[in-house]
Amino acid sequence: MKKLTLVSPSLLSADFTNLQADIDMINQSDADWLHLDVMDGVFVPNISFGFPVIHAVSKICQKPLDVHFMIVQPERYIQQAAEAGATLMSVQYEACTHLHRTIQQIHDAGMKAGVVLNPATPVHLLEDIITDVDLVLLMSVNPGFGGQAFIENTIAKVKRLRKLIDESGAQALIEVDGGVQEDTAPRLVQAGADVLVSGSYVFKAKDPIATIHWLKQC
Ligand code: DX5
Ligand code: ZN
Repeated sequence: MKKLTLVSPSLLSADFTNLQADIDMINQSDADWLHLDVMDGVFVPNISFGFPVIHAVSKICQKPLDVHFMIVQPERYIQQAAEAGATLMSVQYEACTHLHRTIQQIHDAGMKAGVVLNPATPVHLLEDIITDVDLVLLMSVNPGFGGQAFIENTIAKVKRLRKLIDESGAQALIEVDGGVQEDTAPRLVQAGADVLVSGSYVFKAKDPIATIHWLKQC
């Protein structure tokens, strides 16, 4: 039987005037995780939300929280992320001077650890960290905003990362974030992606629950 794709809808495209309704929908859906995008206006040219919101969401969301930090020096916030209810903390490769130590500290705080690559950051830079991380998140848009167009080179990147993981015996999952929709989702899974993040395609859909269900079958 075909393995189901993991789906992590991105809260960035939810209705911020009524998060309860959108999280009720997530709880009722087949979503595996909920993706939360933290931005600092420095690493990316946008600011989203922070720990009070993550903490509030953790109280009503029954799915593990997959928190994506688009901030400089994310190591400053590991403890707060754990206390706010993050299950998985992903940090941008480009924002970490001592990535190995940061990954260790995320694990020590009781969370799963992920590393995120921007579109221009090559997969081979992960050779010496791949067996230490639980997840690699490939950005298929430049981070900072929802609803952007998918960068086609991501398909080749997923294939290269799949090869690196398989050849090194690592267990890391491959997650892709940005422009995941009808046309791109099946091709990403075909290339070797395990987890799909999807913001606007899920939350702007007429039937978000059916859309999540469809993504899982890709
Ligand atoms: C962008 C964020 C994404 C965003 C994806 O910086 O990391 O998680 O919500 O949105 P879509 O799926 O609309 O491209
Ligand atoms: Zn994200």
